[in-house]
Amino acid sequence: MKYIIAIIQPAKLTAVHDALLEIGITGMTVTEVQGYGRQKGKSEIYRGAEYTVHFLPKVKIELALPAKMFAKAIDVIKTASSSGKIGDGKIFIFDLQEAVRIRTNETGDSAL
Ligand SMILES: Nc1ncnc2c1ncn2[C@@H]1O[C@H](COP(=O)(O)OP(=O)(O)OP(=O)(O)O)[C@@H](O)[C@H]1O
Ligand SMILES: [Mg+2]
Repeated sequence: MKYIIAIIQPAKLTAVHDALLEIGITGMTVTEVQGYGRQKGKSEIYRGAEYTVHFLPKVKIELALPAKMFAKAIDVIKTASSSGKIGDGKIFIFDLQEAVRIRTNETGDSAL
């Protein structure tokens, strides 16, 4: 199993979510976050306006995936969230040791 954290532009959330639903994800967590990358939040175009600020609004999506879905999910997130401009975001990938569905006590892929 893998755990993916992707920081994306808020405007791309719907497209990314739709694309992930199409490949059959069973759940995800979404959080509104603030952050910055190499440009330190400066001179990044956000919704057509240029701001000089340190933290810019982003959306963090997190999902746990069976190993067999992982490559496709990364591909889908990249494609759906890319505009080719600075600030498009980042994907962080972790090995996931275990998952538990609390209600049933299922573990592993069947808990996802
Ligand atoms: N090294 C990092 N650690 C944690 N979060 C990061 C890191 N780099 C970027 N992020 C998060 O990802 C968001 C988007 O980063 P961003 O796409 O601007 O990265 P970048 O390295 O500056 O690339 P680009 O040059 O394409 O803008 C940031 O606002 C921040 O929330
Ligand atoms: Mg940047």
